[in-house]
Parts: sequence; structure tokens; C-alpha cells
Amino acid sequence: MQRGALNVNRIRKDFPILCRKIKDRPLVYFDNAATTQKPLSVIDAIRDYYMNYNSNIHRAVHQMAEEATQAYETTRQKVANLINSPSTDEIIFTRNATEAINLVSHTWGHDNIRKNDRILITELEHHSNIVPWQILCKQSRASLDYVDVDKGGYLDMDQCEKALHNKNTKLISISEVSNVLGTIVPIKKIVKMAHDQNIPVLVDAAQSVPHMPVDVQALDCDFMVFSAHKMLGPTGVGVLYVKKDILEKLEPFISGGDMIKEVHKYDTIYNDLPYKFEAGTPNIADVIGFSAAIDYLSHLGMDKIRDHEIELTRYAMDAMKDIKGITLYGPLDTKNKGGVISFNLGDIHPHDLATILNDHGIAIRSGHHCAQVLMEKFDLSATSRASFYIYNTVEEVDIFINALNDARRLFGI
Ligand code: ALA
Repeated sequence: MQRGALNVNRIRKDFPILCRKIKDRPLVYFDNAATTQKPLSVIDAIRDYYMNYNSNIHRAVHQMAEEATQAYETTRQKVANLINSPSTDEIIFTRNATEAINLVSHTWGHDNIRKNDRILITELEHHSNIVPWQILCKQSRASLDYVDVDKGGYLDMDQCEKALHNKNTKLISISEVSNVLGTIVPIKKIVKMAHDQNIPVLVDAAQSVPHMPVDVQALDCDFMVFSAHKMLGPTGVGVLYVKKDILEKLEPFISGGDMIKEVHKYDTIYNDLPYKFEAGTPNIADVIGFSAAIDYLSHLGMDKIRDHEIELTRYAMDAMKDIKGITLYGPLDTKNKGGVISFNLGDIHPHDLATILNDHGIAIRSGHHCAQVLMEKFDLSATSRASFYIYNTVEEVDIFINALNDARRLFGI
């Protein structure tokens, strides 16, 4: 596909895995909301580290240790640039977005949430943005409130505003883009509404930072989390952004080596930000690999990536709507939707449908997508989900549509 926002033919050459066959058919990878494929530059960066300068960081003065430290810290600078963080002090590397949310619930949450307080989340959330708050609420005898989602996949903004006016609400933690419905939440408006009531906001940006421009200063959010592996990077690397004035007040989450300046028999002076929150030897190789992923995305341009996904999503939804027996979930308007389409086809179980599609070489996700609260709301146990990224093409969407029609005929729909 040459006609769109990105030169996809060129891009595809950078992803060795896209040459492989599944069941003798070319791989069509539509499970990008779960994890994305990796370009050669990312694979090479990890290999280069292990081949040429494998060392621990922040400790030794030998040359390889300095090279490793510099490469690791360069990634932090690139992350800061990508989301327009005012400084690298506010960027903490974690294992994934889930761990980043847990860091906030265990530190900020522990210090700030008390009996009878309320934490506000939404019915759109991934389990990673539900369970840590449930645990914190149980421990502190606080309550968890939900903003409802309507049949179209949109949040009830009136209810959100009302909940933010409750004087006991102490935090809102919310996804910018739903991993199931693709709903793009009016996050800037929500941050403004929350800040008008002095309520801090955590943005789960796991499905937004990889797909569109995101600017923490323009949003003015207090916390943001996302994962490298959903944006061409390796698994095992997450990011937590925290506004400096909040971060300066937080106690450490994990403690031990590297997060200290001085350790004495009975007392410790902690390290500067952000190192205070990165105890132990981190995932050095994969953080360095993430650097190459950010370069790759920045070179393409986040605006263009978003435009490409809009084109594919519109093309796919237009074709899917005509398939007999199909139900699409979430917004139908691509302005309010990321490149994620959840659907069911007749009464075919999503796992059966995913198995049939696999026979056509197509990888989609089926199941509850780590969002069982949302599934319950829609009275579903599972959906099928196709999710797109920079290397996907309209031709692949055509293969997907043909496979759905084959499945429909097979099941007599
Ligand atoms: N959060 C990932 C998904 O939505 C795992 O599939």
C-alpha cells in the first residue's frame, strides 16, 4: 500500500517476522494491541549491546560500563522527548505499564488514600488499571467508583464530572484509548475537570503513546504509564512519568542497590530522581533496544502513524459492516477510535473464529482482553479483536475480510 500516510512497503522490509508463513500462508499480524513486532534496528541494538559493550550501568568507571550507561540514559532522554516531559528526572523505567501503575498505587496511593476516600476509574479499564486500585481500596478502606460506558463505547461525561465533584474523590486513573473498543477518551477535558477539583490524574497511555502524538505538558496529567513492547520495543520495559513536584515527595517502591546514595547500618540516603525508583540491575539491553524503537517511530512521525491507522480502521470497518451476522463494538467514527476493532460473528465463539483465521495465516486476539468489567457491561464473555500498526496494509484487511466470510459460510450464517 503506497497511497497512504506511510510508505508501508518500505516499512515492511524492516520487520523480518513479516516474511514468515503461518499454515503456508503469509502472516497477517493483527494482534498489535497485545504486542507489536520488532524492526531489525531494535533487534540489532540489543545484539550490539550484548556483543560489544555488555556491562552494568551507573556503577563502574570502565569504558564499557560508561557506554552502557550512556546508551541506557539516552533512551530516557528519547522517552522524555517523545512525550514532551520537561526533564528526564520524571521518567522511570519499570517492567511494564502494569508495574508502573503498581508503583503509583504502592507509593502515592499508600501515602494519600485514607478511609472513606474514593478512587475513580472507568468501565473501559484494563485489569492493570483496576486490580491495583481494588487492592489499595481494600487496604485503606477507601472505595472504588466507576464512570459508566454507554452502548456506543463512550464514557458518561456527566457522571464523570459529578464523581469528580465528590469531595472524597482523591484520584482518577483512566485509559486514554481502550484496548478493547478503541475508544479515544477526551482525556484533556477530564484532566481539566479533575484539576479544577484538585484531583490528580493517572493516564494509562499503553494504547495511545504507540499510536498518536502524546504530550504530557499539554495534557497536564500527573502520572502516565505505557509499555515499550506495544511500540516496536522489547518486552520487559515500561515507563512511568510523574510530575516532579509529586515524585519528589514519594517514598521508594522497590529498594536495594542503585536507588541509594549512602547506606549506613540503620539509615539510607536515597539516590536522586529518577534513580531512587529504579532499584537493582534494570533491563539494560531492552531499554537500549527501546531507544531504536523510539527512533523508528519518531522518524515516521506520530501524526502519520495515526493517519495510517485511521485509514486502515475506516477501510476495515466499512467492509466488516457488510458481513452478515457481524456485530462491531465501540465507536464507529474513526475520529474517536484507535486502530482496534472488537467484534463478534454470529454465535461463533471468538476462540473458534481466531482458530479459523489462524488457518488463513491471520493473528487476532480473542477472549476478554484483560477487561472483564467491560465484558460484563456488554454482557459478553469474549470478543474477537483485530488491531493494526504501521506495517499493516489494506491488502491484509482484504485477506481478513475474505477469511471472515469463509468462517461465516462454514458456520451457515
Ligand atoms: N493489554 C494487552 C492486550 O490488550 C495484553 O491485548
